[in-house]
Amino acid sequence: MAHVNVQSQVKLDAKLSNESLYRPRFHFTPKQGWMNDPNGMIFLNGQYHLFFQHYPDGTVWGPMHWGHATSNDLVQWKEQPIALYPDSIGMIFSGSAVLDKNNTSGLGRGGVAPLVAIYTQHNMPGEKAGRTDFQNQSIAYSLDEGKTWTKYAGNPVLKTPNLKDFRDPKVIWHEPTQKWIMNLAVADHVEFYSSPNLMNWRKESEIGKNLFAHGGVWECPDLLHFNVNGKTIWVLLVSMNPGGPNGGSATQYIVGDFDGHAFKPYATDIKWMDYGPDNYAGVTFSNVGERNILIGWMSNWNYANVVPTEKWRSAMTVPRELSLVQQSLNANANSDEFLLVSSPVKELKNAFTEITLKENSIPNRIDLKDIKIKDFEIILSNTFNEKLVVGYHADKKQFYIDRTNAGVSNFNQGFAAVAVAPRLSYAMKMDLSILLDKTSIELFADGGRTVMTALFFPTFPYTKWELVSKEKMAPSSMNLYSFK
Ligand code: FRU
Repeated sequence: MAHVNVQSQVKLDAKLSNESLYRPRFHFTPKQGWMNDPNGMIFLNGQYHLFFQHYPDGTVWGPMHWGHATSNDLVQWKEQPIALYPDSIGMIFSGSAVLDKNNTSGLGRGGVAPLVAIYTQHNMPGEKAGRTDFQNQSIAYSLDEGKTWTKYAGNPVLKTPNLKDFRDPKVIWHEPTQKWIMNLAVADHVEFYSSPNLMNWRKESEIGKNLFAHGGVWECPDLLHFNVNGKTIWVLLVSMNPGGPNGGSATQYIVGDFDGHAFKPYATDIKWMDYGPDNYAGVTFSNVGERNILIGWMSNWNYANVVPTEKWRSAMTVPRELSLVQQSLNANANSDEFLLVSSPVKELKNAFTEITLKENSIPNRIDLKDIKIKDFEIILSNTFNEKLVVGYHADKKQFYIDRTNAGVSNFNQGFAAVAVAPRLSYAMKMDLSILLDKTSIELFADGGRTVMTALFFPTFPYTKWELVSKEKMAPSSMNLYSFK
């Protein structure tokens, strides 16, 4: 009987295109071609704009453009024409976008405030020739909400001091000093520059040499602030590749004060925004008021170029709301630390409908409340004996995602592995929210104190899921949802 079963599945399998097997349902992917980092994310007149590192003519990394997509609700994205093409200065690497409300740049016309993109230009011939001045910062502006862009004639606006890694400008308006602040990744540290007009930049300070995690090169920084009980607390996000907690690419964060000149960290321990292997280069939206909404690139440089999708490569994480909570990181300590927590944005809630428990249907979202701190596993599987396991090990105080047997993994040696993450909460009960798409799992535990994002590529969709807990984790509620 089992044999017959497998045969019929194989026939079905043959009918499933790579597209229907792997194209995510609620994570952004480009229609075709390569994608990496999110860039220039900004909210403008009711629309969220997502630009992204894009090579439209191939499914591996290549000459970088800025692709473009828009959304009214942070859930459904509509791909738009390419925003920025490579030019004689170089490819268009990662960067950000701001709305220049006061027209400080003078690039506005007829009362229209310019949307200004600030990005790195990477000059490939220069790199190949062994030069050290191939990464410089340029700007472009749009007067029609990002539809068309004009590159500034005076580019580049910030030249490298002959440092090979000098990239990924994230610009914010610093209200107290009435200046633009750019944070830039420079190999093993972040540099802060200030400008009155987005064109003339002056170095203010730097942070990070010999502090924090240094297993790889620093990339894609972001500087954000939170209001905690009336006090402004700053967070510096820094992506790093390799050297992540589970190998390859990952994003660390640093909490401290920023006065428009220098960033002063409160502590020098290493903290990870997401412990999973597949959330990189995440940055936040501009122009969304007090909210801090992050999207990350849901891949890892260890294998991004070889994952088994055919028409496109890579997806983004779901948009996540970031906040800061104060808690002790040591059960006995009496001093509190700030922890960066993430959860799927509230907009995403409306995109799911609650479903009842059915044995053979896989929910897209599983929420468990007030779990007892016991070992448990959630196992997703198909009839080919492929399974993805997400679980908790109480003795080790560790979450894990086991994709050793989850499906196709021969494209990369380290892919079939178990990723682990510490539980950071000391609460007596735990809550979990899990998002499941065709090739990704996003785990938010303890209100987002521990987060893990991981990809997987089953050869046939998982058709079964079970919650296994010998010691009875006894959640007060379990809610299952399906993406509408
Ligand atoms: C991060 C990164 C950036 C760079 C871009 C190039 O993933 O390496 O530092 O700007 O990708 O595509």
